[in-house]
Amino acid sequence: MVKFICADSETEAGRVAAEIMAEVIRIRPDALIGLATGSTPINMYSYLADMYRAGELSFKDVRSVNLDEYVGLPPTHVQSYAHFMSENLFSHVDIRAENCHIPSGTADTDAECERYDRLLDRLGRVDIQLLGIGHNGHIAFNEPDSHFPKDTVRVRLTDSTVEANSRFFASRDEVPTEAISMGIGRILRAKRILLLATGAGKADILERALFGRITPAVPASILQFYQGELTVVADRPAMSVILSKHPDVLT
Ligand code: GLP
Repeated sequence: MVKFICADSETEAGRVAAEIMAEVIRIRPDALIGLATGSTPINMYSYLADMYRAGELSFKDVRSVNLDEYVGLPPTHVQSYAHFMSENLFSHVDIRAENCHIPSGTADTDAECERYDRLLDRLGRVDIQLLGIGHNGHIAFNEPDSHFPKDTVRVRLTDSTVEANSRFFASRDEVPTEAISMGIGRILRAKRILLLATGAGKADILERALFGRITPAVPASILQFYQGELTVVADRPAMSVILSKHPDVLT
C-alpha cells in the first residue's frame, strides 16, 4: 500500500515527515527507527529536535540504525554520516549514544558489513525506515546495478553520486569513492517506510522509481514490491511528474 502526501513546500514536507516519525515513537517509545542522511531530511530532523525541546517527544528509549557511511571517514570527519547525525539530530535530543548505530567507515569493511548484519538481526525489524532518493534512483548507497543487494555491502559510488555529493566537500577529490550500505533486502524488512523527496530535481526519478519498470538499474523501483506500508512525502516540485502522469494518486 502506498500513500502519497504532497506538501506545499520543502519545509512543510519536513514537518509532515517529522510528525509521522514522532507518531511512531509516541506509540512505541522504544521504537527502532531507520535513519537516512543527505540534504533532504535535514528539515525533518530539525522539527524532531524542536518537538523534543518543546517536551512533546522523547528519544530516551528510542533505538536507531543508519543506512550507510562513507568508507574511510572517521566519525569525527565533518562529512561523515556519523557526524551528520550528531549535528542534525543526536546532539539535540535525549537519545542514548549506545542506542545509535551507524556502520563504521574506518573498520575493516568486509568485517563491518558482517557485524552490521548481525546487529540488524539482533535488533529485529525496523519500525519505520526513512529513505531519501538519489538522482539515479539509489536508496541508501545502493547504486544502480545488475542486482538488488540483500545484505550490508561495500559499494563503489558512481561518478554521478560522487559529483552530486561533492557539493558538501571542499573539492571533488575529497569525496570518498566507496561506501558501506545497508542492502536493499534489509531495507525492505522494515515494517514501514517513509520516502522523503524534495525539489524539482527529484521529480523524474521519483516517478520512474514508483511507476516505472522494476529494475536494479533504478534501485528504488524495488519499493513497488514492498509489502509493508509505504508513505511518500514530497513537496510539489518533487511530485510534479507523478501528479501530471498519475493525477489520481492523491485521492
Ligand atoms: C546520499 C545518501 C542517500 C540519500 C541521497 C540523496 O548519497 N546516501 O541516503 O538519500 O544521497 O541525497 P539528498 O537528500 O542530498 O538529495
